[in-house]
Amino acid sequence: MKKIAIMTSGGDSPGMNAHIRTLVRYGLSKRCQIYGIHGGYQGLIENNLQEMNYDSVANIIQRGGTILKTSRSAEFMTAAGRVKAANNLNALGIKALICCGGDGSYAGLKALANPVDGQWQGQVIGTPGTIDNDVAGTDYTIGFDTAINTGIAAVDKLRDTGDSHNLHFIVEVMGRHSGDIATAVGIASGATCILVPETESKIVDIVKALKTKGHNIIVVAEGDELGGAYEIAEKINLHCKEKNIPLLNFRVCVLGHTQRGGSPTARDRILAHNMAIMAIDSILTGASLKSIAVQNDTLCLVDL
Ligand code: F6P
Repeated sequence: MKKIAIMTSGGDSPGMNAHIRTLVRYGLSKRCQIYGIHGGYQGLIENNLQEMNYDSVANIIQRGGTILKTSRSAEFMTAAGRVKAANNLNALGIKALICCGGDGSYAGLKALANPVDGQWQGQVIGTPGTIDNDVAGTDYTIGFDTAINTGIAAVDKLRDTGDSHNLHFIVEVMGRHSGDIATAVGIASGATCILVPETESKIVDIVKALKTKGHNIIVVAEGDELGGAYEIAEKINLHCKEKNIPLLNFRVCVLGHTQRGGSPTARDRILAHNMAIMAIDSILTGASLKSIAVQNDTLCLVDL
């Protein structure tokens, strides 16, 4: 009977609960003991672990957020913090750790279990959970599909009022370093312009692209180099004033953390489920320092 600890870390994403559910129930079916770490890496440092059973994960498959809670831990970034974490895992006889999160969470796993200077000798497996879809090696992360559907639903609503009043909207979606959400939301909602941190945009080009009849939707990722939605609206207005171009009636809508919540889509639930099964199976076949990934619709293991 292998003891496996599971946790969620970094920004929560819809589908994490479905993932936890399968990790626990599939793990139990494989005769493992599953411990839930509450509050991410900080919870591990503070020894906040509890054994989970079949009923611990009842009625959560449809819920956003994470029943295990999550955090961003500065202490875990120190070797002293990781020593505390390792001691807590060892005290319970835990042999493996599965962490669902983004790139910061993966960095934590690598630091903890790195064979050269890591603090813990157990196996570690990462599962990609972030709305940003920016984990290397995987085409999709758990939560991305729900987040983009939330964004699309919001833009569809804005279109109704935009069309009735000839209003123009700049919609800011999440993604501090990643434009995947903005790209997907922008394409699927027929935006006039999509602004992402990965490419440089110029106000002059944006203004040129705007339609003068009907209404315009601009979708911008929060981390765009031109600034957030409010800043971009100001810059467009300023440019139009300077060039004597008629001002468009821009309204700003920042979707923010709404995209992190809500009931996960079928796609996220199924991805979360399949990745959980592969994570447990990987532990049982001795893998470590690996991430579960999906490439061309096929699950695979890649290096953390
Ligand atoms: O990493 C996911 C994410 O939602 C990013 O898109 C966003 O920049 C960030 O988390 C916001 O996190 P916080 O609320 O912790 O600032």
